[in-house]
Amino acid sequence: MNSEEFKKRRRQLMRMVGQGGIVILPAAPVRMRSRDVEYRFRQDSDFFYMTGFAEPEAVAVLIPGREKGEYLLFCRERNKKREQWDGLRAGQRGAVDQYGADDAFPIEDLDDILPGIMESCDRVYYTMGMYSEFDSRMADWVNTLRSRLRRGTQTPHEFVALDHLLHDMRLYKSRSEISALRKSAKVAVEAHKRAMRVTRPGLFEYEIEAEFIHEFRQNDASNSYSPIVGGGKNACVLHYIDNNAELKDGDLLLIDAGCELDYYASDVTRTFPINGKFSPEQLAVYEIVLAAQEAAIEKIIVGNHWNEPHDAAVKVITKGLKKLGLLEGSLGSLIKTAAYQPFYMHRTGHWIGMDVHDVGDYKVGNKWRMLEVGMVTTVEPGIYIGNNRKIPKAFRNIGIRIEDDVAISNKGPDILSRDLVKEPDAIESLMNDG
Ligand code: GLY
Ligand code: MN
Ligand code: MN
Repeated sequence: MNSEEFKKRRRQLMRMVGQGGIVILPAAPVRMRSRDVEYRFRQDSDFFYMTGFAEPEAVAVLIPGREKGEYLLFCRERNKKREQWDGLRAGQRGAVDQYGADDAFPIEDLDDILPGIMESCDRVYYTMGMYSEFDSRMADWVNTLRSRLRRGTQTPHEFVALDHLLHDMRLYKSRSEISALRKSAKVAVEAHKRAMRVTRPGLFEYEIEAEFIHEFRQNDASNSYSPIVGGGKNACVLHYIDNNAELKDGDLLLIDAGCELDYYASDVTRTFPINGKFSPEQLAVYEIVLAAQEAAIEKIIVGNHWNEPHDAAVKVITKGLKKLGLLEGSLGSLIKTAAYQPFYMHRTGHWIGMDVHDVGDYKVGNKWRMLEVGMVTTVEPGIYIGNNRKIPKAFRNIGIRIEDDVAISNKGPDILSRDLVKEPDAIESLMNDG
């Protein structure tokens, strides 16, 4: 993402906020993994979206119309000794020269400077409840201003939820964001192909997970969530992440794994036979999920609302389960009573972007949101048949999901992960012939 794009976003947000408003955006805190070892730092998505600044201990402040500078960045000072241990810091000069801040201050000066700036503003735009430590600092600053009221100090009259504005912006992806998501999906696609090529009975789920780590890191990417690598019955546990069981001949393997590349996520699922050949029952269920996914993707077009892809998937799945003899009754009543839910218990998709479950409302008022160009969603129907004695044995412990990332474009659904096979024949060929 180039610096012009970040600047454009700040300008857009400042236009929405207007004169008299102040936006306060803290960086993500550093988190400890165990004892004195930190997790690898990942910048807060909202903060990065507005600044492109990847360091911790920073606060961005936007004050539309302020003559002495509209964009202030509080960040760490340069420090030779610390940089020897932790790596380069931009410092205040870098914040201005490389990151486009109008002015920059050491993060230690925040308590001294920020309340004074807030004092001259009517409205504070801030996301409460994200970082409790920062929330309490905000409360302290407001209380400080209140305590000075008798001396003629002003306090802002209004606190506005910043996430409403910012998350609506993030929902509509620019061309360069779509291109970043496409690149992220491409890396995930290559990793899934590797996994299909190496899978065989006798390997362990973690050995397949290792293929993802390898492909992701080879491309400067990392997991966008803990990968789900579930063989056989493990595929029916929706958030299975143990990934430590042996892969059995005759079972299916469900892999839900995506990466984060340059702050943009992919989220891709494929299900395939561990021995390279679908059984008739596995194939029958797979064909239903595939048809459901195709029906849902067809609905990812401008003018449809958010729930139409889900409705389409539910219809195909319910019809399919009825045909297999796993559900009985009229299609209408099976859908109405949600009789499919023991087999399909999750939604068909979610927004995807900088976060794998990305921001953005799914409803506007009490109506489903209309799909518009630039929105990006996953499409991920599935069927999960547990170990139910009432179900014929050959169908038990089958768990299948197929998931792609789809951008809404003027030309129809743009499947970002389209290069990953999903037709049963194509999967079998890739597994057996490479
Ligand atoms: N991998 C998480 C999801 O599919 O939503
Ligand atoms: Mn997924
Ligand atoms: Mn997903």
